Amino acid sequence: MNFPDVAQLNKNFGAVGRIAFRAGPGGFPLAVMANKHGATEISLYGGQVLSYRPTGHLPVLFVSRNAIYAHGKPIRGGIPICWPWFGPHPDDSSRPMHGFARLLQWHLTTVEYGAENSEIRLCLLDDERTRAFWPHQFELTLRVVLDASLRIELTTLNTGNKPFVLTQALHSYFSVRQIMDISIRGLEGAYYDNVTNENVRQQNGTILIRNEVDRVYVNTTSDCVINDPGLGRQILIGKRGSHATVIWNPWIDKSKRMTDFGDDEYTRMVCVETANARDDAVSIAPGQKHTLIQTLRTDMKPKE
Ligand code: BG6
Repeated sequence: MNFPDVAQLNKNFGAVGRIAFRAGPGGFPLAVMANKHGATEISLYGGQVLSYRPTGHLPVLFVSRNAIYAHGKPIRGGIPICWPWFGPHPDDSSRPMHGFARLLQWHLTTVEYGAENSEIRLCLLDDERTRAFWPHQFELTLRVVLDASLRIELTTLNTGNKPFVLTQALHSYFSVRQIMDISIRGLEGAYYDNVTNENVRQQNGTILIRNEVDRVYVNTTSDCVINDPGLGRQILIGKRGSHATVIWNPWIDKSKRMTDFGDDEYTRMVCVETANARDDAVSIAPGQKHTLIQTLRTDMKPKE
């Protein structure tokens, strides 16, 4: 897989102080966008937002110190795109976990910028490689908008002549001071528990994380809030086009088993994933599209 040339990307799309391109770890090209509201970095490999720092705040997203930046491997952190299936492939476990969008180089289509608003669009089109995994024609577009919030829009257009069904997620890794101190609000209701395989459990009240958590909350369109008293902040996660939210923390044993994750890093992250998963699979007719949107904001809050 060839990288696009960073110098050429700067020449075609760069603007001093607003948007620039650089070679990140592993040589992967990164788009760096900045304006008065903050800064964000997006990897063209995977179409993956890797950092988001609102002005005056600490970084919002977590990336593992052991993350691997290599073709064919997912990058552990930021906002990986799970598409066109979430989790293991339903019929064939040899196909990549969480689909292939996070394993391919995306194409840059447009950038726009001003003092208060920056945006970038990337796209992924079907080709021989994607059709080997998934026999459908599509145009997948990622739009990342940085203003007072960070908005990520993932649009799937069916460009073929047969309907298809997909599951997907914006698999956001959030940075927290200490996992034992945080709570997550907004997800009252039913969830599938992937750790115990007990279907279905019921959430009452805020979520606290005290062990491995791997849950798909269903029938939920609610926004979520991560309350992090250690950092004195709240992360607000809004969404559209989604009826499922996934919460994941690998805890101690699974962290040790993951080669691209530090043994102690489970204490400093939590994933809250805007998803179409389980009962919320999406069917898209020829010529039709579906957009999944996630919006991130941070608020300072007094330490508790
Ligand atoms: C979560 C899944 O979304 O992603 C977990 O619910 C999975 O089951 C986790 O372990 C990480 O997946 P991966 O493929 O990035 O290691």
